Parts: sequence; C-alpha cells; structure tokens
Amino acid sequence: MRLYDDAARPEETGPRMAPGSNLELVRQRLAAARNITVLTGAGISADSGVPTFRGADGLWRNFRAEDLATPEAFERDPRLVWAWYNWRRELIATKQPNAAHLAIVELERRAPTFWLVTQNVDGLHRDAGSRKLSEIHGNIWKVRCTGCHAVSENRDVPISILPFCPQCRALLRPHIVWFGESLLAADLQQCSTVLRNCDLLLVIGTSGVVYPAAGFATLAKEAGAFVVEINLDSTPQSSLVDVSLQGRAKDLVPLLLDPT
Ligand code: OAD
Repeated sequence: MRLYDDAARPEETGPRMAPGSNLELVRQRLAAARNITVLTGAGISADSGVPTFRGADGLWRNFRAEDLATPEAFERDPRLVWAWYNWRRELIATKQPNAAHLAIVELERRAPTFWLVTQNVDGLHRDAGSRKLSEIHGNIWKVRCTGCHAVSENRDVPISILPFCPQCRALLRPHIVWFGESLLAADLQQCSTVLRNCDLLLVIGTSGVVYPAAGFATLAKEAGAFVVEINLDSTPQSSLVDVSLQGRAKDLVPLLLDPT
C-alpha cells in the first residue's frame, strides 16, 4: 500500500471525554491488557521540540511535500531534497526523547506482548530505548543506495551534499518512505499482525490523515481492541475510538502508567 494523504477530513461526530474522567479507565485497561500496540505520530516528538507536519508551525505549512518528499522531487533536484533533510537532521540532532517516549519504553518492559508502530523518522523512540518497533516511514539517520539498495546508518551532521555509496558510488537517498511510495511489505505484514492481535491500541499524536497508518485504529477496532487516542486536538479517528484523551503526550502517557 502506498503512502497517501487524505486531505478531506470528515466532520467530527462522536463524543469525546475529558481526560480526568477516563484516565483511570484507560489505566485499568492498560494494566489488564496482555497484547498492547502503540501507534505514534509527530505529536509525540512535538514535546521534544521536533516540528509536526500539519500543526500551526507544521512543516507542510511552510514547505511543499511535492518538492521535497516524493521520488519525483529527488529525481528532479536531489541537492534540494538533501539540503532539506540535512536541515531536519541538524534540528533533530539537538533533541532528546521526552517523558512520553520513555513511558512507552516502560510499557514495552511491562506488557506481556507489545509492539510500537511509529510514523516518525526522527529516531527518538530508539534513542529512548524502544526495541520492539517498526519505523514504518523510515529513519532520518539511515541512507539507502539508489544503485545497490544497501541501507546503512549515517549520523553525519551535516551530511555531505550529495552523498554517494562507498560500495558502488551511486547516489544515496534518505531511507524514508515518500509520498507515492509503498511501505515495506515486512512492515505492513507486522502491522497487520499486531493490529489484529492486540487487545489495546494506543494512538498518540497523529493527525490520522496519512494512509495506511490512518486506517490502523479502524483495523484494531474491527478486530475487537479497546482503542485509546491521545492528542492535543480532535482527529478523524476521535469519533471511532473508545476513549479520546486531549492533552500533551508528555503529560498524559506517563499518567497512564503511574497514578498520581
Ligand atoms: P501531523 O503533523 O499530521 O499531526 C500531528 C498530530 O499531533 C496532530 O493531530 C496534533 O494535534 C498532534 N499533536 C501536536 N502536538 C502534540 C502533543 N504535544 N501531544 C499530543 N499530540 C500532539 O503528523 P503525523 O500524523 O505524524 O510522513 O503525520 C503523518 C505523516 O505525514 C508523517 O509521518 C510524515 C508526514 O508527511 C513522512 O514524512 C513520510
């Protein structure tokens, strides 16, 4: 399935609940759950100072995705695309995981069965210590050769523009899934498995408009999971989840683990 953006957001319909009245319910469900899946988006890293894509200062408010995050853009002007990713690398390199990233690591440690699916490419979940995870949109600290397709880690800041493969000398590209590209089949398979099998899905800090991840809450719900959304705002998924908690991820996610 290719990555695409659902610009048309449906009207919000369902009820939303105040955080206080539902925290205890979510805590109990979380403590009892045997099989937990977490889906995260840019909102969880917003609390670390990483810009989101669609918020007030979101990247797609100031930059055009079609100029920077498509295979056609890279073919047209690889220097421009690399310059943009280099700027994002410089920015992300100064950021640290926050309390929400750390709480998810603790959840991984406590839950009998656990999987984290992140749309974020910033690597902050790994930095925090998450190990059972799929970075379905790639990782900004990895590069992929356009010739031999080898993937390698590259933490250079700044990265040389343009970077070339040390093995075959072809141009390297960011190891990111761009608009119009497909997610890795193995990642899709893993997502399908964990969404079908989880008894609780936590959806944190995603606007829920980029597919296939935007469909994950529905898939889990159809498979019988209790679905909880944590977001500053309402989203197209708010009306279908069991509990929608509004607030900052860095405040709410730790509260789900440790009652105050
Ligand atoms: P968006 O920028 O679309 O959405 C961020 C969401 O986080 C919004 O719903 C905000 O309300 C919420 N949010 C912001 N700050 C928050 C906070 N402190 N606590 C909780 N929620 C907060 O980001 P994504 O949904 O992740 O793709 O975007 C999906 C994909 O679109 C990205 O992975 C990226 C982009 O194009 C690629 O780069 C391939």
